[in-house]
Amino acid sequence: MYFEMQSLNSEQRSNILHSLVLPRPIAWISSVDGDGTVNVAPFSFFNAMSGDPPLLCVCIGSRQGVLKDTARNIAATGEFVVNLVSEPLARRMAVTAIEFGPQVDESAQAGLVLGDARRVKAPRIVDSPASFECRVRQLIDIDGVRSLVLADVLAAHVMDAAVVDGELMYFDPAPMELIARLQNPGWYGRVGDAFQMPTPSVAQWDAMQRQGVSDGYLAWADDGPAAR
Ligand SMILES: Cc1cc2nc3c(=O)[nH]c(=O)nc-3n(C[C@H](O)[C@H](O)[C@H](O)COP(=O)(O)O)c2cc1C
Repeated sequence: MYFEMQSLNSEQRSNILHSLVLPRPIAWISSVDGDGTVNVAPFSFFNAMSGDPPLLCVCIGSRQGVLKDTARNIAATGEFVVNLVSEPLARRMAVTAIEFGPQVDESAQAGLVLGDARRVKAPRIVDSPASFECRVRQLIDIDGVRSLVLADVLAAHVMDAAVVDGELMYFDPAPMELIARLQNPGWYGRVGDAFQMPTPSVAQWDAMQRQGVSDGYLAWADDGPAAR
């Protein structure tokens, strides 16, 4: 089927990306307002945008035409923490997505344990498998009711069990039990069923073509256990 975005209504346009751009990692954002009141909420229009400088990007919408608390806090303080979500924390994450007013601390509703961050005022969620302390680099106002936040990562906290090589910065996703957002309505996935597939060099690709094995290479992605 073919869909012209202009001929879809707002909900359909939103659903088409929500339900097809999969899986999306979840930024579980902790922030504070000018008075230090904590706010926690999840956002899946989120991803890493660059390794060096380390940049994250998240898009925060509005509620009844008013920017969400997270967006207002980030605009006011220029800082926040992105916490990743593990399966054991999934229900707590869902509670923090309830559309509470700005006076409600979602972290208390969800029974989250918060700890101090080192480089920013916003707290981190202690049980999150990985957290990134962030400072806003650029805030892009999309249409008055949506903000695209591009942020520098100042520091990262990673659960000890996930550290494979703390020099090369290799981490094992298994102990982190990360979940990701899937299609509407309300589907989630586990990060799993991984396979390893190094990108061939130009020389390797040329050699495969000379040897007539490139079609075999293209036919399947998994190099098999021997290559792992
Ligand atoms: C998994 C998940 C992902 C979400 N992703 C987004 C998103 O990318 N952008 C957004 O505006 N709202 C998103 N939401 C909805 C917000 O979390 C929700 O509106 C929340 O109440 C906002 O809280 P705040 O007003 O305290 O910032 C998501 C909700 C869930 C459960």
